[in-house]
Amino acid sequence: MPTFEESLKRTAGEINNRISELLPQPDGPEARVIEAMRYAMEAPGKRLRPFLIVQSGRLFGIETEKMNRVAVALECVHTFSLIHDDLPCMDDDDLRRGRPTVHKAFDEATAVLAGDALLAFAFELLGSERTHQDPFVRCELVTHMSKAVGAHGMIGGQMIDLSIQTLPQDIPTITRLQRLKTGALFAFACESGAIMGRAGRDSRHALDAYAHDLGLAFQIADDILDVEGSSEELGKAAQKDDDAGKATFISILGLDRAKAQAQMLADQAKCHLDMFDERADLLREAADFVVKRRN
Ligand code: IPE
Ligand code: IPE
Ligand code: MG
Ligand code: MG
Ligand code: MG
Repeated sequence: MPTFEESLKRTAGEINNRISELLPQPDGPEARVIEAMRYAMEAPGKRLRPFLIVQSGRLFGIETEKMNRVAVALECVHTFSLIHDDLPCMDDDDLRRGRPTVHKAFDEATAVLAGDALLAFAFELLGSERTHQDPFVRCELVTHMSKAVGAHGMIGGQMIDLSIQTLPQDIPTITRLQRLKTGALFAFACESGAIMGRAGRDSRHALDAYAHDLGLAFQIADDILDVEGSSEELGKAAQKDDDAGKATFISILGLDRAKAQAQMLADQAKCHLDMFDERADLLREAADFVVKRRN
């Protein structure tokens, strides 16, 4: 049996190949924006969201090939969120996935456009017949992804993150911020197998509950790594959140209680998978991975 790390690496390798194949090729006078899209997408991300997509598909017997297209679509959306998150008007970061951020390697306007084009390309992938033969399923994928990205999803979370100084900095506010900015895309990832497999309401609820705890644990771990990690390990700036005035579980609870909270959420996430058999084991292990990871 491969270990969790080996399984994640294998999926990452497959996704990297699919990214290279599926993204448009730089051509014509607009080539620069495609070069920037590829620059951001081909940089070494962990590909954890794609892994969750492939594993959620396994629960319902969906072939990896089909899930990979959904996985590339979500990785496009996630990468769009990172390109824009790093812009000077947001977190103003110079390093991402061990490389200069897109606005540093190219320029700000190209970074904005590359992010926009990745978001649009994600929907092009989901809308294609090659992703699923049933138009109803494709429509559901598109609707769910739109909601996960939009004003009450990732983008809403980023808005709260940036306006936190004007809001009460308490646990309910930070929890909502993090559930939106990070949890929403995790929820799409985990539900996508149920959508592709036209699964019933019980499994969808279970996966949604799992993803919400997992996403929150993942973001708390990201905030802990900002305090404890190094920029070499992380491939992005470290020790920035406090100076930037970010509100996190650490700024409210302190480091030790934030770690305990992340572990509690990871354990709770696993409990939501009780209705699934051993095909959910890698999802169970993913919950431990998000809090143990070093980058
Ligand atoms: C970083 O996500 C942004 C957050 C939501 C914390 P990842 O840690 O998954 O970044 P990559 O994809 O591996 O670069
Ligand atoms: C960003 O959170 C989450 C996104 C939606 C992009 P962070 O700002 O903490 O992510 P990093 O630390 O820059 O990766
Ligand atoms: Mg940010
Ligand atoms: Mg950031
Ligand atoms: Mg962070």
